[in-house]
Amino acid sequence: MNADRVADVAGLLDRIRAREIRVGIVGLGYVGIPLALTASRAGFRVLGFDINGPRVERLNRGESLIRHVPDDLVAEAVRQGKFEATADFSRLSEPDAILICVPTPLTKHQEPDLSYVENTARAIAPCLRPGQLIVLESTTYPGTTDEVLRPIFEATGLRSGRDFFLAFSPEREDPGNPDFGTSAIPKVVGGDGPEALSLADALYSQLVVRTVPVSSTATAEAVKLTENIFRAVNIALVNELKVVYGAMGIDVWEVIDAAKTKPFGFMPFYPGPGLGGHCIPIDPFYLTWKAREYDIATRFIELAGQINTRMPYYVVNKLAEAVDRTGRAFTGSRILVLGVAYKKNVDDLRESPSLKLMELIGARGAQVDYHDPYIPEIPRTREHAELAGRRSVALDAATLSGYDAVLIATDHDSVDYRLVVENAKVVVDTRNACARAGLSGGRIVKA
Ligand SMILES: NC(=O)c1ccc[n+]([C@@H]2O[C@H](COP(=O)([O-])OP(=O)(O)OC[C@H]3O[C@@H](n4cnc5c(N)ncnc54)[C@H](O)[C@@H]3O)[C@@H](O)[C@H]2O)c1
Repeated sequence: MNADRVADVAGLLDRIRAREIRVGIVGLGYVGIPLALTASRAGFRVLGFDINGPRVERLNRGESLIRHVPDDLVAEAVRQGKFEATADFSRLSEPDAILICVPTPLTKHQEPDLSYVENTARAIAPCLRPGQLIVLESTTYPGTTDEVLRPIFEATGLRSGRDFFLAFSPEREDPGNPDFGTSAIPKVVGGDGPEALSLADALYSQLVVRTVPVSSTATAEAVKLTENIFRAVNIALVNELKVVYGAMGIDVWEVIDAAKTKPFGFMPFYPGPGLGGHCIPIDPFYLTWKAREYDIATRFIELAGQINTRMPYYVVNKLAEAVDRTGRAFTGSRILVLGVAYKKNVDDLRESPSLKLMELIGARGAQVDYHDPYIPEIPRTREHAELAGRRSVALDAATLSGYDAVLIATDHDSVDYRLVVENAKVVVDTRNACARAGLSGGRIVKA
């Protein structure tokens, strides 16, 4: 070992493997909370940091804050002294490893908004001490760890790879997926130097089923973007096929179900009313932005974005046609949007296409309400502030029959689709939910 090395890498490795280190997690949201619970269940003592004071208090009271994470898990970890949340960032010197899980959205000009990541780095810097491992988990463009985080930390006089260790390990959380919780998903790890890689790899080896070490932090950053770009492009492709086949009278869902019986060379993706969530609509544009630095246009990504962005318009046209066919004018009609979460069985409506659908339906002069079992009230969002405060209506026979059409935008499993089909005048289904529930008939229009 290098004689002037300040940090004791071997000692830290031993303590990681013995699960003796304290793990800090910055950003206690959809990613940070499950990660904190995974680490505390693995035997680590976890200190979670968040700027949102009420969130911190509720976590310390044993509330999970996420629908698919039971309160008991948080309460148990708190009671055993394995998990504590704090808004006191001066305590960032306490953990030996700090995992950063803060948001990485786009600005209103569709450019990467790294302000949360930068603010976190600036909060860590004054507390940084030799021997700490810092890992960024937030999705971002290749180069962020090296070009944005490292300079902020090295401005303290400490050196990456000698005094402290820096890595990137992308979060792959799939909220609400019962088959793949945090610990069941392999974790890609890239380090700023071999020591950082071995430390981060050792830590995640204690938490998840398998780690996948890669050669650099930029490669690890690129892996995450590649995964999400792959989804965005393939979803755009099936959305385009939906429009083409729809015009030909062919059901795209039937096509995909048959095509996926091919045992190789095909992977099913499903069309929908547009892209939603904090990741798929946003992450690809992190690469688009960075690619401009190299004078390269990301044409696939742009095209996928255009197709997916047009989907809500296509769906509302289909909805309007379906209402018109009943003899009622779309303007002045009453529409119920079923599901405002961006995907089924979650309570997250970030970037949800349902909000765009509600806006477009309203703009065409129809009255629009929504039902979502997991979102009782629409919170304030940047793009759809006008919808804030709207409340979910009850889903019963009388309510359903009062609307001119029901638009299935999110296919939550807990919804009684038979009740919907039996009582609605028309059902416009963007998720093939009715067919999957064994329901068919002239009142159902796929869109
Ligand atoms: N949600 C997902 O399914 C998912 C999946 C994979 C990757 N990711 C990525 O993980 C990252 C986090 O996403 P999320 O869905 O957990 O976000 P989130 O909004 O649910 O949680 C982020 C938390 O960070 C807190 N926060 C913001 N700024 C902070 C700061 N400076 N210091 C401390 N806390 C701060 C917020 O109060 C919030 O509680 C993003 O980069 C996202 O792209 C998310």
